[in-house]
Amino acid sequence: MTRILVTGGAGYVGSVSVAALVAAGHSVMVLDDLTTGHAAAVPAGAVLRRGSYTDEASVRSLLVASRIEAILHCAARSLVGESIREPAAYYRDNVAGGVALLEAARKTGVKRFVFSSTAAVYGTPDETPIPEDAPLRPINTYGETKRTLETALAWYGRAYGLRSVTLRYFNVAGATDELGEDHDPETHLIPNVLKAAEGGPELTVFGEDYPTPDGTCVRDYIHVADLADAHLLALEATAPTDARTNEALVCNLGSGGGFSVREVLNTTAALVGHEVPHTIGPRRDGDPPVLVASSDRATQILGWRARRPSLDEIIGSALEWRRRNPGGYRD
Ligand code: UFG
Repeated sequence: MTRILVTGGAGYVGSVSVAALVAAGHSVMVLDDLTTGHAAAVPAGAVLRRGSYTDEASVRSLLVASRIEAILHCAARSLVGESIREPAAYYRDNVAGGVALLEAARKTGVKRFVFSSTAAVYGTPDETPIPEDAPLRPINTYGETKRTLETALAWYGRAYGLRSVTLRYFNVAGATDELGEDHDPETHLIPNVLKAAEGGPELTVFGEDYPTPDGTCVRDYIHVADLADAHLLALEATAPTDARTNEALVCNLGSGGGFSVREVLNTTAALVGHEVPHTIGPRRDGDPPVLVASSDRATQILGWRARRPSLDEIIGSALEWRRRNPGGYRD
């Protein structure tokens, strides 16, 4: 049993990871300011503290008072478009705030850290599947700020003995029985396709003239429950004597398969039994044609494997959750 603080534990990825940590017998405290998270998403068995990871002094007291041993840092700003319009907010929260959290950890002797990063650190890759040692050339502030904190973790490791695992998520989707995706605004493909299928605004396909088999962008969708499994394994790898984190460890997390926007529309149509209303629009700025992860390292080093890689299961689980929670978390 490890006493772990999860920042952003009321958010989509954070809450599903908290549920997995609690189920595995860990003692979990969630730190979330609830600007985008939902109190109702915090699983039973975890304690919610409302507050910000960017407030070093209060995080320090919390780490000491709760005798925290490890941190899972899921909280961040994560909207690509917004990051380009408002870089200041991204540098303030993701970078300066991230360092405040690292400082709170350093000053209180917390040496285990798991970090939510993103495929956005790669920008437009030269090759796919993308290995972790591919060049990091983010094309938006979001990816740049995540890369900056990744690097900070490596230097903190060398100087202060921080043990860290960075997980670079590809396209997270799907739901568990209890927990799902409820963002406002929603920018991600799968929830927007489901909204369109339910009679909401029709989906705009952002471009069908890409150099891909059907002309629409290809992404590596990973089930949120598979992602949560990886967090548990990453936490174990930060144990004090575990040689895997003698140096900062970075792993991609994707299912290893690529699906196009059109395949997402077709799979959804088959699940709901009718076409999904959509139109073809122009390309969205900053969308690489293909983003697919090589997850070999996560398999070899963490012993992780995507257990729910099919688009049917990913979209089907999201659909089920929305049917059971038509208004989302209602808070
Ligand atoms: N798309 C549409 N219509 C929509 C929404 C999305 O056609 O209404 C397309 C996008 O153009 C893209 C694909 O669906 O080709 C997936 O888009 P998402 O917005 O769901 O996801 P992204 O691939 O843009 O974003 C993901 C992560 C980000 C991360 C980024 C890295 O969600 O956190 O990969 O490029 F930054």
